[in-house]
Parts: sequence; structure tokens; C-alpha cells
Amino acid sequence: MLAGKHIILGITGGIAAYKSVMLLRLLIKKGAEVQVIITPSGKEFITPVTLSALSGKPVISEFFTANTGEWHSHVDLGLWADAMVIAPATACTIAKMACGVADNMLVTSYLSAKAPVFVAPAMDLDMMAHPSTKRNLETLRSYGNHIIEPASGELASHLVGKGRMEEPENIVKVLEDFFCTAKPLAGKKMLITAGPTYERIDPVRFIGNFSTGKMGYAIADAAARMGAEVTLVSGPVSIAPEERSVNVVKVESAREMCDACTERFQDTDIAIMCAAVADYAPAHTYSTKIKREKDEVPVITLVKNPDIAATLGRQKHPGQILVGFALETDHEEANAKLKLDSKNLDMIVLNSLRDPQAGFGTDTNKITIITAKGSAMDFPVKSKTEVAKDILHAIVDL
Ligand code: CTP
Repeated sequence: MLAGKHIILGITGGIAAYKSVMLLRLLIKKGAEVQVIITPSGKEFITPVTLSALSGKPVISEFFTANTGEWHSHVDLGLWADAMVIAPATACTIAKMACGVADNMLVTSYLSAKAPVFVAPAMDLDMMAHPSTKRNLETLRSYGNHIIEPASGELASHLVGKGRMEEPENIVKVLEDFFCTAKPLAGKKMLITAGPTYERIDPVRFIGNFSTGKMGYAIADAAARMGAEVTLVSGPVSIAPEERSVNVVKVESAREMCDACTERFQDTDIAIMCAAVADYAPAHTYSTKIKREKDEVPVITLVKNPDIAATLGRQKHPGQILVGFALETDHEEANAKLKLDSKNLDMIVLNSLRDPQAGFGTDTNKITIITAKGSAMDFPVKSKTEVAKDILHAIVDL
């Protein structure tokens, strides 16, 4: 997939620059043609001699080669590239990219690049968490750049947290996925639910759950990358899809989520019910805050919420595919099969809360996919991004 691709590898001044050598080697091994552009401070961390030996091309750092006066055209480089990868990207370079500060060859080439740009940040956890870095990364996302999120772990400072540049193998994988021309979901309309629902008690309180929406958002992103037209009906979460083509419909309660889904289901080829929907809502929502009474404990009467998956299951036409999730704590497979049948699903994705690497808020998941035809497939622990792809490939197989 990367064979013959022209890739600009931008290296900036961070400890993680040592990993860029491995990234360069992997890209070359995959058959890519790589032009390294290194910032002046990048050269403090890694020598251009190593990089030019591995890439088979002189490394570019300055606008001119001092002794020959040769000018390096950032415009030509920007047009030559099929992709630009900046790894590691320091907080400083990210800020310059966000603001268009073209004071070195790398940022100048970035501003001229017509190709997709991938940014792999690497920095200390406090720099990563600073509002300015967060805002700058958001700005790059809004430009359509792809941010390869850093991992958590021990950092060069010996502090532990988020800021470690993603491993070279995974960066290569992101590029391969991007260039993968197979779009098996092209032309398919998908409806995905994600996140929790909030059921209001009064203006300050609600009944909710611990869902963060990560799994549903990962599925929406992966589906968009596989060519689907995605509508994501989302409960209240603090994340956003990475793919700008994903159409997000924000809702709060189960009832609102149900209305948003039933409105769109007729025009949907594949629906995936990933949301953790509250099964019950307060029978009455107070318009003013419930005050604390001295001797009385309030009693909140609950009413049943609609079962969205079952509602869509009843409306389903031949040719439409409906997929549900089952998060169970016991009798996992039997419970999942019951839900598959009772909601008229074509497939159910089971995860067990007994599994420490599955469930709410984790970046990983461990699933079993059970189909209405009776097949069951266990998958090992994977990142939610990888799990999303497994689920979508299983749907393509259906
Ligand atoms: N679901 C739904 N609407 C609801 C409840 C659940 O659409 N009111 C969907 C979920 O999105 C999931 C599947 O149904 O795809 C199973 O959800 P889960 O909460 O595990 O099951 P329930 O049917 O609520 O059963 P229980 O809570 O008793 O396990």
C-alpha cells in the first residue's frame, strides 16, 4: 500500500526523534520514497547522516544549501508528496503549524503541502495537557490534518502520562489504512448510536451512566474511512469524531435518541446500537431544583424508556442490517443471545465487564461477535480503533 508513495517525513526537536529512524526504516522497507525534512533543533537530537543513509536522499533542513546556493523549493516538495508525516511533532512546531509561522523549511513545506498531513505529537504530559497545545491540535484537526494521538507511559522526564510519540509500527499502520483504497462500505448509509443518555430529574441532576462514547465514535470514524456515509446519534460525551465527514446528531435523553434514530432508520443500510441507553427515566422532571428536606428522603418514580434497538428491530426491512451491543457481568453469552433474538438483531457484540480491559472509559476492548446465523467469534484484547474495524469487517462479511 505504501510502495511507490512519496512521503515527507518531518522531524522536529524532541527526544522521540530517535524513533523517527525506525519509522523511516519501516517506510523504506514498505517501498515508500521518503524525503526527510528536519528542523534545526531536530538536528540536535538526530544526525542527518543517519537519515540520509537510510532514505537514500540528502536530508533537507535549510532553505538553501550554504556551499552550493541550491534552493530547496518547499512548493515543489509540497506538490511531490502523497503524504506528509511529522513525527515527532513538538508543542512548538504544532503551534507554528496552527498559526502559519513559516520560519523553517518544515513548516513552510507544511503550508505548501497539498497532500494529507499526519501529525504525531510527542512532549511532556503537562505540555500535552496545556490548553494552548489542546487548542492548537484542535486547530490542526479543523484544517483536516490527521492527529496520531500520543500514547501514555513513561516519558523522557521520567514522569508518567500522555505524551509518548506513537510507536513507528502504528504510525505506518495509520498510513497504510489511509492509503487502503478498498472502501468496502462505499455507498452505504450508516446510523450509529454512542455514549450515555441523561434522564433529567431536575435542572441540576440526571440519571446517567459511565459510558464515554469511545467505542461508538471509533466505529463511526472507521466506518467513514471505509467509505460509509455515517450519522452518529450521540448522547452527552466530551469527545468528537476524527473524521470530518461524520454527521453528529447530539441528543440528551433516550427518548430524544429514539426519535433521532427512528426518523433516520428507513434511509439506513446498517445501524449499530452502541449507546448505553438508560432503561428508565424519572416519571416527572422538576422544573426547579429539588431542595433538601429535613426529615424526608425524596422518592423518584421511574418509567420505562423505549428500547431503541428493539424499536428499529421491529421496523427492519429485508436488506437492512441491525447490530447491537451487550455489556454483561454474568452469563454473558446466554444473555447476549437472548438480546440478539428479542431485539431482532443480525449481530451482537458482546463485552464482559468482568474483563478489566473492556467496558467504559478504557481505550481497549475484548469482544465476541455473535451472529443471528449462530456463529460466534472471540477476539483478543485490542484498541477500540482495531475493535471497530473487526466489527465493521464482520458486518461486511454479513
Ligand atoms: N439498547 C437500546 N435501547 C435501550 C436499551 C438498550 O437501544 N433502551 C441497546 C443498546 O444500545 C445495545 C443493546 O440494546 O445495543 C443492549 O443493551 P443493554 O443495555 O446491554 O441491554 P438491555 O436491553 O438494556 O438489557 P439489560 O440492561 O437488562 O442487560
